Amino acid sequence: MIIAIDGPAASGKGTIGKRLAAHYGLRHLDTGLLYRAVGKSVLDAGKTPDDRKAAIAAAQSLDLTRFDEATLKGAEAGEAASHVSAIPEVRAALVNYQRAFAAEKPGAVLDGRDIGTVICPDADVKIFVTAAPEVRATRRGNEYRAAGKAVDDATVLADIRKRDERDSSRAASPLRQADDAVLLDTTAMGVEEAVAAAIRIVEARR
Ligand code: C5P
Repeated sequence: MIIAIDGPAASGKGTIGKRLAAHYGLRHLDTGLLYRAVGKSVLDAGKTPDDRKAAIAAAQSLDLTRFDEATLKGAEAGEAASHVSAIPEVRAALVNYQRAFAAEKPGAVLDGRDIGTVICPDADVKIFVTAAPEVRATRRGNEYRAAGKAVDDATVLADIRKRDERDSSRAASPLRQADDAVLLDTTAMGVEEAVAAAIRIVEARR
């Protein structure tokens, strides 16, 4: 079984993806980490994320073992990721890895922006997870604070709005709900409620 989960930043798709994978005994890939690793590689090389040549080179020689997840999950890597991810050659360099991951037995849950539309258009179940921007900003702010970083929700909200706009308006694989995806709005849901709703969607679809 392949489950494709897409949605904007801090919508809950990562948590839901992890929990669905555990529930069904599937492997899980947070594809945002790939773009974050490319973004971080470009910054580490002393270049800006808009440097196409540097970003393409980083994507084509990506070694995921070089990074720890905490660094990749930070705001700096996220911001860089949303720039490099608009470059078609960067996306192309990461397609095979994602499809190979999805194809391995016993199946997988992938979460990102274009899983249901581009990476796994034939996924057994597609879920598009969303939530109001203010709620997503509060969740992301709480994550940063739990990790010991001082942030205010207004700054996080502004960043999230900018990132949504960039991800939705780019020409290459923009963030968009696949026609056959089920919408899951987690605005008024806690984690357990959202996971239960996602399981109900999978049960109804598979
Ligand atoms: O999901 P996450 O916030 O970790 O993703 C970071 C950035 O990577 C997103 O803002 C988006 O620009 C990019 N991304 C993407 N396609 C994916 C996953 C992430 O373009 N499948």
